[in-house]
Amino acid sequence: MEKNLNEVLNGLERLPQVITPKDASLILAYTGISPDAKIVDAGSGSGFLAIFLAWYCPKGKVITYEKRMEFTKIVERNISKTGLKNIEVKNKDVLEGIEEKDIDLITLDMKDCEQAIPEAYKKLNADGWLAVYSPHIEQVERIVEEMRKNKFKNIEIVENIVREWQSEFGYTRPKSQGLMHTGWLTFGRK
Ligand SMILES: C[S@@+](CC[C@H](N)C(=O)[O-])C[C@H]1O[C@@H](n2cnc3c(N)ncnc32)[C@H](O)[C@@H]1O
Repeated sequence: MEKNLNEVLNGLERLPQVITPKDASLILAYTGISPDAKIVDAGSGSGFLAIFLAWYCPKGKVITYEKRMEFTKIVERNISKTGLKNIEVKNKDVLEGIEEKDIDLITLDMKDCEQAIPEAYKKLNADGWLAVYSPHIEQVERIVEEMRKNKFKNIEIVENIVREWQSEFGYTRPKSQGLMHTGWLTFGRK
């Protein structure tokens, strides 16, 4: 039997902190992007978000920017393990510019990502989406300010809190341990 995406992701290398399917799924839910979407992602990190998006947009393309060569190599290795053909990794600093245009969705997950917002606005198509992942609320504040300055609409900040429960020995209750905090996603539309 072929592996599903979660099984594929479990077999990949992780170096920088990754965006897990719990949070990545919000990007599909909030943007409603099509399977043929053109997506730009930065920074690639371990490539988890880029792989997640490429998996669910099989007729589209994901171009992911990573400025550090050692992480670019990890992403290339991870992509080759997935067999996906619709992802391209660029060993480039996204703050020096986004080469693509008419983009349906830009995702950002990196330090100082608010600095990429003006360029993201220019390169999105007329109703394209920006989704920014932030582990700290201070970064969310900077992102929202920059999105407003750049005239993004429909700005929404969301956090996906998942509480797992256990049912054992005749008793059902929330698990006392688990992943409590991951990050926030801030969405905006051109
Ligand atoms: C937290 S990781 C991204 C994880 C990724 N979203 C995933 O799910 O695997 C952040 C990455 O952004 C990269 N980065 C930071 N600034 C960048 C820039 N200006 N351009 C491109 N990549 C950058 C870092 O080298 C790091 O690998």
